[in-house]
Amino acid sequence: MFADLYAGRRVFVTGHTGFKGSWLSAWLLALGARAAGFSLGVPTTPSHFEALDLARRMEDLRGDIRDRAALTRAMQGFAPEVVFHLAAQALVRRSYEDPAGTIEANALGTMNVLEAVRACPSVKAVVVITSDKCYRNEEWVWGYRETDHLGGADPYSASKGCAEIIAHSYFQSFFANGPACTTVRAGNVIGGGDWAADRIVPDCARAWAEHRPVAIRSPWATRPWQHVLEPLSGYLWLGARLLDNNAGLRAGAEAPFDPRGQAYNFGPAADVNNTVAEVVEALAVHWPGFKSEMDAAGHAGKKESTLLKLCCDKALAELSWKATLDFEETIRYTAEWYARYYEGGSGKGAMWDYTQGQITAYGGKAAHRGLAWAH
Ligand SMILES: NC(=O)c1ccc[n+]([C@@H]2O[C@H](COP(=O)([O-])OP(=O)(O)OC[C@H]3O[C@@H](n4cnc5c(N)ncnc54)[C@H](O)[C@@H]3O)[C@@H](O)[C@H]2O)c1
Repeated sequence: MFADLYAGRRVFVTGHTGFKGSWLSAWLLALGARAAGFSLGVPTTPSHFEALDLARRMEDLRGDIRDRAALTRAMQGFAPEVVFHLAAQALVRRSYEDPAGTIEANALGTMNVLEAVRACPSVKAVVVITSDKCYRNEEWVWGYRETDHLGGADPYSASKGCAEIIAHSYFQSFFANGPACTTVRAGNVIGGGDWAADRIVPDCARAWAEHRPVAIRSPWATRPWQHVLEPLSGYLWLGARLLDNNAGLRAGAEAPFDPRGQAYNFGPAADVNNTVAEVVEALAVHWPGFKSEMDAAGHAGKKESTLLKLCCDKALAELSWKATLDFEETIRYTAEWYARYYEGGSGKGAMWDYTQGQITAYGGKAAHRGLAWAH
């Protein structure tokens, strides 16, 4: 179990004001870690970050990862043992509007994080979060493996492919005897507290909170949906293994694989590949008093050809990691979070207990289902 390894540790999270970073910070705080975050402002209003009032619960540092000197000062000032790098311009559509800013933040920003790590001797473990979009999309039906070609037609995907190449160059060139590092690649995550633009669950939350039907661009597109806690469990488990590769193994056993310098995919079970329309319908079932009403004019019958799914056999073989929740549970966790928020949980910090309750329930399910990280 990774719980023991984070208690009292100093952990630095870039992108802590964002959707995934705020959930990761909440989980780290629950594990007893001393967490600091480094980000630009809070990217959305409302936000999971404000709903948990994380600014009050952790060291809340504001800055731009494109500013190497400021980032290095912040990291040195906090002197972390573990770094999770999530800060990024995370939206594909915005990357078309601002390709240079996206590549500066995602590719060069990753380089700056690793330069800051080089200047910060306290760091023992680094997990660099990129994306499933780092793979060159071959439009095939198979899941991408960690050895497949990197690439990216749009600037966001290209920036994540670049981040991977830069990170692995740093791992080999500078960190062979330094901090233990990995990159991690996950796909579309859903969960309570996301209000980002151009994502289907936030689009539903915004529309349904105002009692209007949700507009859907690509109802028949399929995605490997997973709850935000799923990849985060993988990142935390990997961070723990980087700190102590024998963590979670039975007493006296030697770790059969060394995760240092590796890349890992984290995704749902291979059969979780539902359409956008199915997600919307499933969400509506749990949205009190609301029926699934979609405004998909002009899209009916079109099948999106942007198949992108991950093969997660490496995480299973080397880390004994696999997803915990099925599709129905993923949807229920997500919808119930928003329902609670819109039923009176919108005050600053009002969702802290609820989010912690979901983290505890998720850990309990993972333990019940025999996941190594949860034992
Ligand atoms: N959400 C998903 O479905 C998904 C899927 C694959 C990969 N990812 C990756 O996971 C990470 C987190 O994604 P998210 O959904 O939480 O994104 P988000 O947009 O909710 O949050 C982004 C975070 O990065 C910070 N940030 C952006 N530019 C910055 C800069 N120049 N300097 C400092 N901070 C900056 C923001 O302030 C925010 O804290 C990103 O690297 C993203 O590419 C997300």
